[in-house]
Amino acid sequence: MEAINPFREDQAARTRPQSCTVVIFGASGDLTGRKLVPALYNIAADGELPPTLKVVGFARRPKSHEGFRSELEEMNKKLSRQGHDERLWASFSQSIFYHQSEFEDASGYVRLAGLLDELDAAGAGGNRLFYLSTSPEYFPIVLEQLKAAGLNQAPAGKWARVVIEKPFGTDLETAQTLNRAVHDTFAEKDTYRIDHYLGKETAQNIMVLRFANAIFEPIWNNRYIDHIQITCAENLGMEGGRGGYYEKAGCLRDMVQNHLMQLLSLVAMEPPTDLSADGVRDEKVKVFRSLRQFTDAADVARNVVRAQYTAGTVGGKVAAGYRQEDRINPQSMTEAYVAMKINIDTWRWEGVPFYLRVGKQLPKKTTEISVHFKRPPHVLFNRGTEDDPANVLVIRIQPDEGISLRIASKIPGPAVRTERVKMDFQYSTSFGKASPEAYERLLLDAMGGDATLFARGDEVEHAWRYIDIIEQAWHGASGQPPMCEYPAGSWGPAEAEDLLKRDGRDWRRL
Ligand code: BG6
Repeated sequence: MEAINPFREDQAARTRPQSCTVVIFGASGDLTGRKLVPALYNIAADGELPPTLKVVGFARRPKSHEGFRSELEEMNKKLSRQGHDERLWASFSQSIFYHQSEFEDASGYVRLAGLLDELDAAGAGGNRLFYLSTSPEYFPIVLEQLKAAGLNQAPAGKWARVVIEKPFGTDLETAQTLNRAVHDTFAEKDTYRIDHYLGKETAQNIMVLRFANAIFEPIWNNRYIDHIQITCAENLGMEGGRGGYYEKAGCLRDMVQNHLMQLLSLVAMEPPTDLSADGVRDEKVKVFRSLRQFTDAADVARNVVRAQYTAGTVGGKVAAGYRQEDRINPQSMTEAYVAMKINIDTWRWEGVPFYLRVGKQLPKKTTEISVHFKRPPHVLFNRGTEDDPANVLVIRIQPDEGISLRIASKIPGPAVRTERVKMDFQYSTSFGKASPEAYERLLLDAMGGDATLFARGDEVEHAWRYIDIIEQAWHGASGQPPMCEYPAGSWGPAEAEDLLKRDGRDWRRL
């Protein structure tokens, strides 16, 4: 069946998931119970899950099918977006199975093939979606073993696809090695690299806003836009034992290389010639290729601020400093916050900086993109005041998803005085229903064969190429820039303020 793209207007023609068996490697991990199974359950609740679909959890711990199902049920009760219906769960959970094996044990894959054949005979249909949710060092091992067992080859008329969780490498070299391992086993068209930010409803709406409306695109360039800010703030620290992973990754690798780069590419890309997965991703790649590379450590130090939080208060609760968190080195040089200025060397974006800020233990959880337009060329109103007459278009990715436009308006009364007001669109009030979770969208697309909302191999490599230069400047032999500090619960270090101040700009107040 031909894949149908999610950006097409015709809802009825949306990607239809095809019956398959979803095999989750690393199924005892957090993601399965927290995101993947609740997402499948909610797709079932929406009546969109093929009734013959099966799920197999593949992991090392011994467990029965029943034991696995009850663990998942507990999680689903807590986390399901649309609540937990006992009857629906009772039928849905019968399609869930558990398969115990070490990841490097070839015989475990032979047994898996046997189980998949049995499920096919019971109606699963022969398509397979292999979901790699293990810790990343096992990705190549699982791929190799799938190939050795012949599971990467689908029978005639069927498909075998692989979904790969983040992190996709830790730098360009490891990403290239992983891409080689993937391509040795699966074709690129059957490879779905997850970036869950692409599954967020509002991230998808960036393209619709830009290319389904005639009024924005003519002004979406350096003649009318002064600069763009992307903020991704979190009000959590290293809860839930995340410190071990985070201390090795840091904010730049954890958030900027993937989620923020993806958001930036959607804002900055040229209109695609069509809405095929490659049509869209070709344009995103062009953005990555046009990012102005930092030339040396001094250039990085001038344009990228890294920071850690010190003790403070977040949401009324006392929060420890980053270096005092569980599983964090007390002398850690890992950043929990990044602010940076990015330039894109194209006709459209020449002279329009993109400022990014992202970090942990900030005052609230919020992700937004704000497009700051140039000021009116001639000031007629509020002359001589501090008032900033620039229009700002804000795309709120989460929470409170929506879009608002800041415009000047006359304050009622005899004097001609103006004030900024907001034209606001909110998903919740306009559509009256909650947006699906990112993982619901992404699983549906992977089952339907649409890779538009997944990162392609070359996208990931280009993003690493850009990020590696910063990592090298931070951790290289000479002239390392300082690790700045901010109290937990504040909006980041003073150095991040200076990054904009020296350009005569300020971060948007959130
Ligand atoms: C993950 C990062 O990819 O995204 C986490 O590893 C981060 O550190 C998370 O907390 C944020 O996702 P969301 O959807 O909650 O904004």
